[in-house]
Amino acid sequence: MNVLEAIRNRRSIRKYLSKPVEREKLEAILEAGRWAPSASNKQPWHFVVVTKEEKRKALADAHPYGRFMAESPVVIVVLGDSERHPKYYLADPHNAVMNMLLAAYAHDLGTCWMGVRDTDIEPKFRDLLNIPKSLRVICCISIGYHEVERDSTRRQLDEIVRWESY
Ligand SMILES: Cc1cc2nc3c(=O)[nH]c(=O)nc-3n(C[C@H](O)[C@H](O)[C@H](O)COP(=O)(O)O)c2cc1C
Repeated sequence: MNVLEAIRNRRSIRKYLSKPVEREKLEAILEAGRWAPSASNKQPWHFVVVTKEEKRKALADAHPYGRFMAESPVVIVVLGDSERHPKYYLADPHNAVMNMLLAAYAHDLGTCWMGVRDTDIEPKFRDLLNIPKSLRVICCISIGYHEVERDSTRRQLDEIVRWESY
């Protein structure tokens, strides 16, 4: 798939089919996360893959804007590791997230990115998934097959781009 097509047409999906996601597709998505750019190539991230319904429901109950994790067959929780990079451990995991969203799209899967860090959801996720205190819970991604198609909007380029100087 053309990368520009994926960037333009990927949308946040919040309604999923119960059809399971193939292990190979999941591994391809995680592999895309692994190859994200990272400051000094420290790769300060960990991915917790949650497929068990009971655990997904617990995550969904803990996240007021992520109730659909109860439906999506897969949730990936993305962690930041300050020991690997004290300066970029909060930023770099987002690079991995974006790669994973695009890879999932290329495999006909829907995703939605949900923020977690610096909210009261973070300690709840930490408890539910036994995440050590040394790691931050950055965000999570729901993944699954879907039927609904969505569109979205963006600010126009002439509103956000300045050439040569502001
Ligand atoms: C940092 C971040 C946090 C987000 N948190 C949530 C969330 O908690 N729940 C949700 O449904 N969508 C969440 N989203 C998805 C955005 O709402 C979505 O990307 C935006 O509305 C644009 O829609 P699109 O992704 O379909 O283009 C989040 C996206 C980002 C980048």
